[in-house]
Amino acid sequence: MKKTVKDVDVKGKRVIVRCDFNVPIDDEGKITDETRVTASLPTIEYLLGQGARVVLMSHMGRPDGAPDMKYSLKVVADSLSRHLGREVAFAASPEVVDDNVRAAVAALGDGQALLLENLRFRKEETKNDPEFAKDLAGLADVYVNDAFGTAHRAHASTAGVAAYLPAVSGFLIEKEVKFLGEAIENPSRPLLAILGGAKVGDKIPVIESLLDKVDALIIAGGMSYTFFKHRGYEIGTSLLDEKGLALAPKLLAKAQEKGVRLVFAVDAKVARERANDSESLYCDADKMPADMMGVDIGPKSAAIFAEEIKKAKTIIWNGPMGVFEMANFAAGTRAVAEAMAEADAVTIIGGGDSAAAVEQFGLAGKMTHISTGGGASLEFLEGKELPGVAVLQDK
Ligand code: 3PG
Repeated sequence: MKKTVKDVDVKGKRVIVRCDFNVPIDDEGKITDETRVTASLPTIEYLLGQGARVVLMSHMGRPDGAPDMKYSLKVVADSLSRHLGREVAFAASPEVVDDNVRAAVAALGDGQALLLENLRFRKEETKNDPEFAKDLAGLADVYVNDAFGTAHRAHASTAGVAAYLPAVSGFLIEKEVKFLGEAIENPSRPLLAILGGAKVGDKIPVIESLLDKVDALIIAGGMSYTFFKHRGYEIGTSLLDEKGLALAPKLLAKAQEKGVRLVFAVDAKVARERANDSESLYCDADKMPADMMGVDIGPKSAAIFAEEIKKAKTIIWNGPMGVFEMANFAAGTRAVAEAMAEADAVTIIGGGDSAAAVEQFGLAGKMTHISTGGGASLEFLEGKELPGVAVLQDK
């Protein structure tokens, strides 16, 4: 167990908090999904309520170690001010830390907050440069990491800074580790994992690790076609992951050895192109036309998956069933989300695309826990220790 903000005295102290404000922004510069902002509020509100002087920091996007104003965090400072009902000042320096910023931090009163500019405007951030980490630490007396979505990165603000300050977790990291950890280590059984998304190659370590824990595993979405190919089916122009294809026999053998029920789609929606208005049709998994690609699961698969979901007591879902961003190919992902929403089970959504899908279908409120971390939750499920959590003090 890691220490949290409740285990340290923060009154009147300068507290630097790493959040994950890597939010999607549209062409007009507006935040299109504020989930990560609202998820950070409990920790910030607690610290302000305790009379801390709060310095917030985050990255947004991948600006490549130099200032790029389309990734400025000003928009997040405005959003935070709105949500908190009090001003969160914005320290606009593209240097992130300089004398002006130090002066602004020194001028903070108890219960006041400011947000630094995008950490990735400095190349030292992703390099976990010790001098930059020291500069960040110099702004505060206590370090809080609450950026679960970035906890799988060992960067200056997520790992390095902890060498120079007492380091504890915020409520979001505490909650994420609790839900994901319990689902994996101490679940009500049967435990079902549903893995979708495109690349089997990337998810092989997760599949391998899940096979040690789960009772059943649904492999669907873009990954299925690689397994269909392994069976010798025609997969047309569907996604094929060569690395995954080479490793498929090993995974199938491990599932058998561990007694894990592997469940695959039995039908698919196929389209001529990856475009919403493309000609499309349903077909059985072994009857895909050679000139079309899989873009969703079909209704038979959706019914089978819903039955599996009904049987489970804990369900972890990562990765969509198809190209759910396109309305014509969203039915399979929606069916899985709806079955999970109705399930009498602990339902965990492992961030990224599946979280966006559940949000899009208006079912977010029906899930037990939706992780704010895509990559981070996958690495957690893989059994890896996340650097941003590892550096925090134990209780
Ligand atoms: C995410 O959105 O997964 C996190 O914010 C991490 O971002 P990154 O993949 O650019 O490090």
